[in-house]
Amino acid sequence: MIPVVKTIDEIRSAVKTAKKQGKTVGLVPTMGFLHEGHKSLIVRAVSENDFVVVSDFVNPTQFGPNEDFESYPRDIEKDRLMCEEAGADIIFNPEPSEMYDNALTTVSVDKITKTLCGASRPIHFAGVATVVSKLFNIVAPDRAYFGEKDAQQLLVIKKMVKDLNFDIDIIGCPIIREDDGLAKSSRNTYLNPDERKAALCLSRALNIGKAMIDSGETSAKAVKDAIISEIEKEPLARIDYVEIADLDTLESTDKTEGILCAIAVYIGKTRLIDNFIIGEGTK
Ligand code: PAJ
Repeated sequence: MIPVVKTIDEIRSAVKTAKKQGKTVGLVPTMGFLHEGHKSLIVRAVSENDFVVVSDFVNPTQFGPNEDFESYPRDIEKDRLMCEEAGADIIFNPEPSEMYDNALTTVSVDKITKTLCGASRPIHFAGVATVVSKLFNIVAPDRAYFGEKDAQQLLVIKKMVKDLNFDIDIIGCPIIREDDGLAKSSRNTYLNPDERKAALCLSRALNIGKAMIDSGETSAKAVKDAIISEIEKEPLARIDYVEIADLDTLESTDKTEGILCAIAVYIGKTRLIDNFIIGEGTK
């Protein structure tokens, strides 16, 4: 059975041994309650590295005071099976006290953390950047794997790695969806059967927007309006934001190339996110 270690010393010594044997190291940071989306990252990491670490840590510092830190689902034994199936080598599953011992230092990325999810979750990305920096320093991987499901997070991590000169390749991996289109998420477990059906409005609306751009629409406003009106048809849905943002600055734009089209929608009390990307950023 794949080992689960709880301390920084243990994970450091396991990585040190692997590196001494000349192995390359891949890291997949997660908050656990793993599903096929996480698994796709682990499988990719296993295919590209000799030794793969999965971190499984519900990071308190990225949750706001009224968010779901306490109720966030946890199941380390199920996670262990999934990591084993995917071919990972070790799981790092620390307690918050192991990661945060009266810490006074944080990492924050400016500007691109203020828009989209950052507007309604003001401390979120500083929590993410801080914990991911710590994981990078603890594990010192050659490569680290992140999903495009959290597209803003991926861009924030890439910017942080560039700005702080981490010698780590950041690999972005495509969104994995349920058969009916809902993006896989640990938070989907909060949805009751009616909400689960209602949640399909996110991918349905994004598909409509994407199809408009694919067939030549060049006004982001028109695309945004179509997405909003599709979501508003769903009585259980409440929009947090629908935004078409420049892929470099993450600021609102009216172009339809080099963009991130991102949405956050409450279905009942559960906040879900989804997105599509057109083209590439220039940075
Ligand atoms: P978590 O939500 O557990 O996600 C871990 C990784 O899995 C992230 O990179 C996320 O983008 C990816 N992921 C989640 N659902 C996915 C899906 N349906 N398809 C593809 N990839 C998916 O993101 C976090 O944890 C945390 O913020 C973390 C980076 C671990 C820092 O605490």
